Amino acid sequence: MNTLIEKVRSGFAERYGADGQLFAAPGRINLIGEHTDYNGGYVLPGAVDRGIVAAIRPNGTDRVRLAALDPGETCTFGLKEEEKPEASWAHYVFGVCRETIKRGGRVEGFDACFAGDVPLGAGMSSSAALESVFAFALNDLFGNGFDRFELARIGQATEHNYCGCRCGIMDQFASVFGRRGCLMRLDCRSMEFVYVPFDPAGYRLVLLDSRVKHRLVGSPYNDRRRSCERVAAALGRELLRGATMEELEAVRPRISSEDYRRARYVIGEERRVLAFCEALERGDGETAGAAMYATHHGLSQDYEVSCEELDFLVETAASCGVSGSRMMGGGFGGCTINLVREELCDRFVQTACDRFAERYGHAPQVYDVTISDGARRL
Ligand code: GLA
Repeated sequence: MNTLIEKVRSGFAERYGADGQLFAAPGRINLIGEHTDYNGGYVLPGAVDRGIVAAIRPNGTDRVRLAALDPGETCTFGLKEEEKPEASWAHYVFGVCRETIKRGGRVEGFDACFAGDVPLGAGMSSSAALESVFAFALNDLFGNGFDRFELARIGQATEHNYCGCRCGIMDQFASVFGRRGCLMRLDCRSMEFVYVPFDPAGYRLVLLDSRVKHRLVGSPYNDRRRSCERVAAALGRELLRGATMEELEAVRPRISSEDYRRARYVIGEERRVLAFCEALERGDGETAGAAMYATHHGLSQDYEVSCEELDFLVETAASCGVSGSRMMGGGFGGCTINLVREELCDRFVQTACDRFAERYGHAPQVYDVTISDGARRL
């Protein structure tokens, strides 16, 4: 984190010849509750100690000058422009400006640069980190007084309206509300949430990044969401949240078998999140872990958002006796999240890396996870 801050601080000074105000926002993990957010269900994310750092300074014009330090690219756009800039990374910042203005917020021209250490495409929400850092910074710099929920919604609306992904609220929520040492159990229908201290004695969390990305995030993701909406409509509901398996069976003749399987996963996942939380409260890592395997099975077979490499990592975890393992995030590549008994950890990581490398020609990247704070001024 400190090297990242230094890089952004000096990057800003070099480019713009002054100091910018520094802000940070994190990526996230999610223990359980996948593809439930846009169905009004529960999620259990936590912010991580990897994120995006941005330096920003108002420039007295009505234009925004941006520099992404990692690809080493720059981009400029006017705040009155409706057309989004060409560079796809800039759509996130452009969208945040537009969505802030749309909500009656003030945004004036600014210079900014940013860099991050959330691995791209790993399912850890680098894009939410980018949206959140700018939503938070503009709110702070221009005194708009939006609360954190509104900042998360600005990020989500940016994905919907400028990036083509009709995502739920989980990633932006986690990036904005994160708290050191705590997961957050969020009810995505009521938006009520509780911080859940997470320090399961005797266990570690390990992320294994397959470093594969099979399809563009946008369209298959939006297809899954449309399936859920069709089933909810068939059930006469606004959301799948709260629907039962009996209700689903009753409409089965009227929906496609694919939509049926999508909804079966979502309905099952709602119960699993609650069971996972109860198990965690009792300190029962084995029951919690079993729910993670069940989630993976559903994501792979019914929701069909896993891939061969992720299935292989989960199977390897199971064969090593790991307590819980599943793919994490939107899917089609990225990470598995593993709940591993401490004494097993080194052996598991070594075995998974060896077997994966033997099969796919490259080892997965291993990340230790520290659960950290959300968006903030540095
Ligand atoms: C992506 C989306 C989230 C959520 C997850 C799946 O990360 O941005 O809103 O739907 O996929 O749980």
